[in-house]
Amino acid sequence: MKKGKAKKKTSVKSKKTKAKTKKSAKKVARKPKLKSRLSRKIAFKSARKPKIRKRLKLLKTKSRLHYKVTRPRNKDLILILDFGSQYTQLIARRIRENKVFSRIVPFTITPEEIKKQNPKGLIFSGGPLSVYDENAPAPNPEIFKMGLPILGICYGLQIITHMMGGNVRKSKEREFGRSELFVDSNKDLFLNLPTNLTCWMSHSDQVTKLPTGFTLMAHTLNAPSAAIANRSKKIFGIQFHPEVVHTQRGSQILENFIYQICGCFPRWTTAKFIDASLKNIKERIGRQKVVLGLSGGVDSSVVALLLSKAIGKNLHCIFVDNGLLRKNEAQAIERTFKGHFKMSLHCVDASKRFLQRLKNVVDPELKRKIIGDEFIKVFQESAKKIKNVSFLAQGTLYPDVIESISPIGGPSATIKSHHNVGGLPKTLKLELIEPLRELFKDEVRVIGKQLGLGESIVHRQPFPGPGLAVRIIGEVTSERLDILREADERVMDEIKKAGLYQEIWQAFAVLLPVKSVGVMGDQRTYENVIAIRCVSSVDGMTADWVPLSYDILGKMANRIINEVAGVNRVCYDISSKPPSTIEWE
Ligand code: XMP
Repeated sequence: MKKGKAKKKTSVKSKKTKAKTKKSAKKVARKPKLKSRLSRKIAFKSARKPKIRKRLKLLKTKSRLHYKVTRPRNKDLILILDFGSQYTQLIARRIRENKVFSRIVPFTITPEEIKKQNPKGLIFSGGPLSVYDENAPAPNPEIFKMGLPILGICYGLQIITHMMGGNVRKSKEREFGRSELFVDSNKDLFLNLPTNLTCWMSHSDQVTKLPTGFTLMAHTLNAPSAAIANRSKKIFGIQFHPEVVHTQRGSQILENFIYQICGCFPRWTTAKFIDASLKNIKERIGRQKVVLGLSGGVDSSVVALLLSKAIGKNLHCIFVDNGLLRKNEAQAIERTFKGHFKMSLHCVDASKRFLQRLKNVVDPELKRKIIGDEFIKVFQESAKKIKNVSFLAQGTLYPDVIESISPIGGPSATIKSHHNVGGLPKTLKLELIEPLRELFKDEVRVIGKQLGLGESIVHRQPFPGPGLAVRIIGEVTSERLDILREADERVMDEIKKAGLYQEIWQAFAVLLPVKSVGVMGDQRTYENVIAIRCVSSVDGMTADWVPLSYDILGKMANRIINEVAGVNRVCYDISSKPPSTIEWE
């Protein structure tokens, strides 16, 4: 810090003596200011993070740099052109983990659109097709003339090779899984990396002839051109996937691309996101009013906190209690958002309406439809009571946005859609505001924490929109809801006591539509059966049942049978998804 200040003083002094015209004086004055701003930034970050200090040292060592590092801008951006890989989102997340902002765009993006976004580099993702397939996705060839650094991964490498005059062929030996990579050139992408690395391959095509101007950087036993580069054009290609954890030092390969080759600075953080987002919200909304459907889940809770920080009481949250929530959930939401965060929270107790409409309904799909439809009605009625509202806020996340813009659908396009109950009514004629639409779930959780949201919400297990109704097999009545609530509380309590709550995806109880015979004291009983469901999963798309210890299972069963009136038998669900689903309905 001190050094920077001293430098500034002397150069400002020299400016006074040397400047002949006003114009040149201005030029001289601007230079040291930039320099000191940069060094202050570096010093500040260096002091806090040794890893960043190391990276910045690298960036500063000009002798080791192959490409000029330009002065820092407000936020550097890397665009990822999506060719349909199942790992595209993972690439975006890895870049952001390195504190550089990344955005996924369709591979059809034009050079003009790229220019508008002003990225510092492009990544071409992998993809399921072969470059010789009919309709193989190809980027606009003008993109190669833009002078932007490009990194092609797997299909990305192959399409670069194909379009720039090289050859790609079906390989005799397909490579899936781990492979040994031999680095032939420890520069650029492989700077400061060992010469042998384990990498993750997933391909059946390979580069057989390099395009003119390209050199070899690494090979495996089956892929002679596992990494190639045209240094003067700053175009790189790798056959393996640096974004998956199985590739050793994969993150550093991406780091080398974004810092060394693209000249990005690690300046994108969730704290900066919050600042920028608050500013944007204030500018866009001003003194107008916003309504938000608050469910108590992490996404809508974080939206509520951001908006309330930006516009205070002009945010009106509507919480619909559909009577299908877990024990004490409605009270907890009121306590947190009205009591603790002092928000304008409109709690609508609509449990009677929902129960009325669910009377005699046993079909799972019909239950879901009724609940979705009733929710929209209640929300609409409540929103109309708030006068002069201009905006409707929603907790849309980046994966939903990517899915809707992807020309190839992308892997996430296969996620079940029946969960999202048709969206909120267009008849409200409100402008939409979605402050989280550029974020991944894990980033939303970090932001939630930074905004003061408690662990119980930030790391809450997923809970379905139709609530306990899809965990009561058969008709939903208030008596059956009470039984399930009590049983569910015991399951959750034991999972928390065992320290498993954050480790597993979901744990819950299900009320079955059968009764069984039992004996309590000297009395014969004929009562309900509860099933316990406890699954591990990464994204809810696939799941496995958790082999809970007999001890935990025993405690849960004991407590449910002894403490919950109306239950005399408990069983454990040992089915995985597929072929079962996580919820029973
Ligand atoms: P399934 O039962 O389809 O559930 O294997 C996968 C994940 O989605 C959750 N789920 C829902 N979430 N609204 C939601 O917001 C819904 O209608 C819904 N249905 C299921 C489920 O809890 C699991 O995490």
